[in-house]
Amino acid sequence: MKSRKFRVGIIGGGGIAQAVHIPGWRNLPEVEIAGIADVSEATAKKAAAVAGGVPIFTDYRELLKLDLDAVDICTPNKVHTPAALAALNSGRHVLCEKPLAVTTAEVREMGKLADKKKLKLMTAQHQRFTQGGVAVKAWVDAGNLGEAYHARVRAMRRAWLPPSPGFIDASLAGGGPCMDIGVHALDLCLWLMGFPKPVRVSGTSKTVFAKGHDMPNQWGEWDRARYSVEDFAAGIVHFDNGATLMLEAAWMCHQVENEELLAQIFGKKGGVKWPSAEFATVTNGTFAQGTLTHPVQVPHPHWNEIAAFVDCVTNNKPSPVPWTETIKVIGILEAVYASSAQGREITLKL
Ligand SMILES: NC(=O)c1ccc[n+]([C@@H]2O[C@H](COP(=O)([O-])OP(=O)(O)OC[C@H]3O[C@@H](n4cnc5c(N)ncnc54)[C@H](O)[C@@H]3O)[C@@H](O)[C@H]2O)c1
Repeated sequence: MKSRKFRVGIIGGGGIAQAVHIPGWRNLPEVEIAGIADVSEATAKKAAAVAGGVPIFTDYRELLKLDLDAVDICTPNKVHTPAALAALNSGRHVLCEKPLAVTTAEVREMGKLADKKKLKLMTAQHQRFTQGGVAVKAWVDAGNLGEAYHARVRAMRRAWLPPSPGFIDASLAGGGPCMDIGVHALDLCLWLMGFPKPVRVSGTSKTVFAKGHDMPNQWGEWDRARYSVEDFAAGIVHFDNGATLMLEAAWMCHQVENEELLAQIFGKKGGVKWPSAEFATVTNGTFAQGTLTHPVQVPHPHWNEIAAFVDCVTNNKPSPVPWTETIKVIGILEAVYASSAQGREITLKL
């Protein structure tokens, strides 16, 4: 007798859902995409076609009436919390695109609900599943870094500003490059550092180019009147173990690289960079350096992330990206904005 498949419903059928999530779900033979909800019927239809023809809904509450094991949320950031709470309240496990939410209060509300209902909640931080991420994590876990005392996180683009309203309108996005790409490099860096507890943050957040007219965007025109998030942010973070971290994120700036995504960690035994996986250390009084290569190929990090989510649900394993880690990432980004708005250092109580 054929056993029942793992049934997932997708909320938000736009860019990321069509490009990587739906193909990632379809890659798993034990999974069936039961339906897709998108407020845009045209987008829902396109996504359903990518999924091989599945029922569509323009209200995710209708999707939640189906027989589902899990929900995958790929909406603009501000919809993550209501969609995740509705899915968890209806007894479904949740995989949600980054940032899980744009405030720590929302992350905590989702996380506590998931815990209470014994459901899995995973943030889709696919960079943890990249070849460089896997290689550097294995090197760190083997003790090669020693105590991490400082880190640098950069998510800096020359002129790749995502023009869609879901990214540039604060009421939909909740934040600019800090929340969009800073979140990737910061999550990766904290994961490698073992998630120390952030206690103080001083930051700045500003719109330097996106309201003006003279910086060309490699992704085309955007609505300057609607633009209401930062295009640059930076901060310094202090952790309870004395370690520090410097963060920079931008969608536009004058630099020659199209994009620099970097987490660099300085430890007492060695130092390492992600995603290049370069390391430096001293062996027997001699400088040593090189590049780590993980032997296992990672052809598609998003697909691996989805497979890890299904595995944690099916085999009742801990969430591969738990909310208790994500709340530290969001807490730092939230404090960068608060520090900038209030003109002072913010003390975190996570
Ligand atoms: N991990 C990555 O590399 C990566 C890359 C891009 C985007 N993302 C994240 O994925 C999310 C979506 O980004 P995108 O690029 O696909 O955006 P998108 O605008 O292309 O798609 C979002 C879709 O959500 C739909 N939507 C909006 N409100 C909704 C609601 N209430 N119910 C159902 N659907 C709704 C929109 O109609 C749209 O089709 C964002 O949170 C973003 O940060 C992650």
